[in-house]
Amino acid sequence: MIPTIKKKVVVSLALALLIIVGAATVGCQPEPVAEKKELVLEEGVIVSLPSPRHTGEMSVEEAIFHRQSTRHFPDEPLSLEEISQLLWSAGGKTIDGVTGPTRAFPSAGGLYPFEIYLVAGNVTGLADGIYRFQWRNHSLKMIKKGDFRQELMVASLRQRFVEQAPVSIVWVGDFDRVKRVYGTRGVVRYISMDVGGAGQNVHLQAEALGLGTVIVGAFHDGPVQRILGTELVPLYIMPVGRRG
Ligand SMILES: Cc1cc2nc3c(=O)[nH]c(=O)nc-3n(C[C@H](O)[C@H](O)[C@H](O)COP(=O)(O)O)c2cc1C
Repeated sequence: MIPTIKKKVVVSLALALLIIVGAATVGCQPEPVAEKKELVLEEGVIVSLPSPRHTGEMSVEEAIFHRQSTRHFPDEPLSLEEISQLLWSAGGKTIDGVTGPTRAFPSAGGLYPFEIYLVAGNVTGLADGIYRFQWRNHSLKMIKKGDFRQELMVASLRQRFVEQAPVSIVWVGDFDRVKRVYGTRGVVRYISMDVGGAGQNVHLQAEALGLGTVIVGAFHDGPVQRILGTELVPLYIMPVGRRG
């Protein structure tokens, strides 16, 4: 009888010791390091973006009042939700209009003669690369893999903040589409007017998200076209990030 009780006590003690040692070991484990998780993407793959919000905390008056150009960005990633919101404001779909889905900016004759690219180098949940924004289904199509921010900075007359920012949104214009309908007058006037509205949207949306941006119009067209892989004419580059 006595040996059985002794045996039970020894087993219980051993178990208790195991639990204590186990708990202490778990307690000593280093905190898991927050990794930048990225989708492994192949060129041509489509990434669905989270649905954009149509309401927010900041009034349009406050956003206009506080808007200013930001030219310094800390090395901090943006989230896919923020990218979704920024691209929606850049040229996403809004309420259905009379002739079809309306978009976030007005455009002469409803031509919307742009493609919108995202040069992504630091977005949580998104592989670095060049993407084309597909506004109809609010998604991104990967064009090229890799971080092209440094090349874009060089093409932008070495404006340093282009490389610092986690992303840049780039508009390229289809001049032929406008020329066919409105001739030279449309090319000279309407494309710039259209892109102005889209750029202002991104400025105000960035403000409402607590982010910063700046319109960059000083760049070499050819190198920007090569980086994006398009023959359309680059119009605006807008680096976006947290404010430095
Ligand atoms: C068409 C256009 C092109 C611009 N190009 C550049 C540029 O290449 N680099 C830059 O730092 N700022 C550029 N800017 C930003 C202006 O310098 C800025 O908006 C202006 O100084 C007013 O400052 P604010 O935006 O803070 O009010 C550009 C703005 C526009 C509208």
